[in-house]
Amino acid sequence: MKLPKPRFKGELSLEEAIKNRRTTRFFQKRPLKLDHFSQLLWAGYGITEGFRRTVPSAGALYPMDLYVAVGRDSVEWIEEGVYHYVAEEHFIQLVTGMDVRMELSQAALFQSWIADAPICFIITAEYRRITIKYGDRGIRYAIVEAGHMAQNIFLQAEALSLGAGIVGAFHDEKIMNIASLPVNNYPLLLMPVGYKL
Ligand SMILES: Cc1cc2nc3c(=O)[nH]c(=O)nc-3n(C[C@H](O)[C@H](O)[C@H](O)COP(=O)(O)O)c2cc1C
Repeated sequence: MKLPKPRFKGELSLEEAIKNRRTTRFFQKRPLKLDHFSQLLWAGYGITEGFRRTVPSAGALYPMDLYVAVGRDSVEWIEEGVYHYVAEEHFIQLVTGMDVRMELSQAALFQSWIADAPICFIITAEYRRITIKYGDRGIRYAIVEAGHMAQNIFLQAEALSLGAGIVGAFHDEKIMNIASLPVNNYPLLLMPVGYKL
């Protein structure tokens, strides 16, 4: 599904977004606007110029992927499921058509607040896309890149008056199975996002 074009101007200054950013763990039940959903994906790992993205990447190899678990009635015009973000076309591709938020929260040591958010990003790394050039050090570079993506999502959420959380405590294999991630795509971070309560 093709997403609305991202916007490059917002209401909040960068300084205000940095100052206000907090991990949000309480969300309204309200569905996300499609524009907001689209904007978050772009900020997380979208294209800015040519093949270059919103985050820096060692050797411009971009070994990461951005997935998003969407709950039932959680984003305008979008059915529940797990989607893969295809940055080059700014569209999302369905991976599995189930609302997996509850399962994600259980795989994340039963952190129930994850299931309360309308959407949950899954930031993954496919290490061989970067270790092919940098050897084992590529693993470090991919993890650093995940941090850049997470901060972009945090700040973009803040700029849209949304709240974002970040979760590193989960069982990798369970998340891979629940989200039907392709082989060799390892989850590094989960990020629930929604309107703050
Ligand atoms: C790598 C990483 C993993 C985290 N994992 C969790 C988590 O599993 N559950 C959680 O509630 N918060 C998690 N957090 C959020 C931290 O608790 C939070 O960032 C910290 O308390 C500072 O609060 P702030 O983000 O509101 O500034 C994680 C943060 C990072 C950077």
